[in-house]
Amino acid sequence: MSKFRNLLIGTTLVTLAASPVMAEKLGLGRAALPEEVAAWNLDVSPDGTGLPEGSGSVLDGEEVFADNCAICHGDFAEGVDNWPKLAGGMDTLNHKDPLKTVGSYWPYLSTAFDYVHRSMPFGSAQTMSADDTYAIVAYILYSNDLVDEDFVLSKDNFLEVEMPNADGFIVDDREEAEKHFWTEPCMENCKPEPVKITMKAAVLDVTPDEED
Ligand code: HEC
Repeated sequence: MSKFRNLLIGTTLVTLAASPVMAEKLGLGRAALPEEVAAWNLDVSPDGTGLPEGSGSVLDGEEVFADNCAICHGDFAEGVDNWPKLAGGMDTLNHKDPLKTVGSYWPYLSTAFDYVHRSMPFGSAQTMSADDTYAIVAYILYSNDLVDEDFVLSKDNFLEVEMPNADGFIVDDREEAEKHFWTEPCMENCKPEPVKITMKAAVLDVTPDEED
């Protein structure tokens, strides 16, 4: 298996070194330390797997958010200029221009925890503690009118929070559901007469002429 992989991708030193066997042979790199793996292994799943111990209140979250996030996302998570809005947009998903926020769109709260803990504040990622992250996520829920101001989010009650759009995503079943639309594509001698190319676009010749 690993021989096969080396054969397939072994065209550069970097990819060669990615294989532990070759790394040893070339004397490059070392195995990652357990704490290095732990530092990267942050993912939190919808079923709560990966949530760290901790908790945080809406009120604490309001403060942490004001200090670290509000400059871009607004005091109430409503967004500043073109920075993303994290709150609002309820019942807009079927509009022509829907506002997709953590509250209106995200199906899992775990994504908010994972995302904030992993990648925000923009430019200073991974500076928020677990407790601060619980508090921030609680505050984002509050900004979306999903919890009261005395709410405290923790590892223990995390899965009890109901996200409004939790049922808004479906598994892509087109392979089955739309199978009857599909036909074998014709690859040769598909049309008897010579094929004519016709112009169909409403506006033709849109390439600007060169200015002189
Ligand atoms: C310097 C500006 C800045 C600061 C400060 C900042 N963010 Fe962000 N945030 C961004 C940008 C830019 C994006 C979009 C990133 C992308 O799409 O790749 C983003 C995206 C997000 C999103 C995802 C929004 C969505 O719907 O896709 C969340 C949630 C978020 N930030 C939370 C936070 C939190 C919580 C903090 C404070 C701990 C924070 N941000 C601080 C700029 C900022």
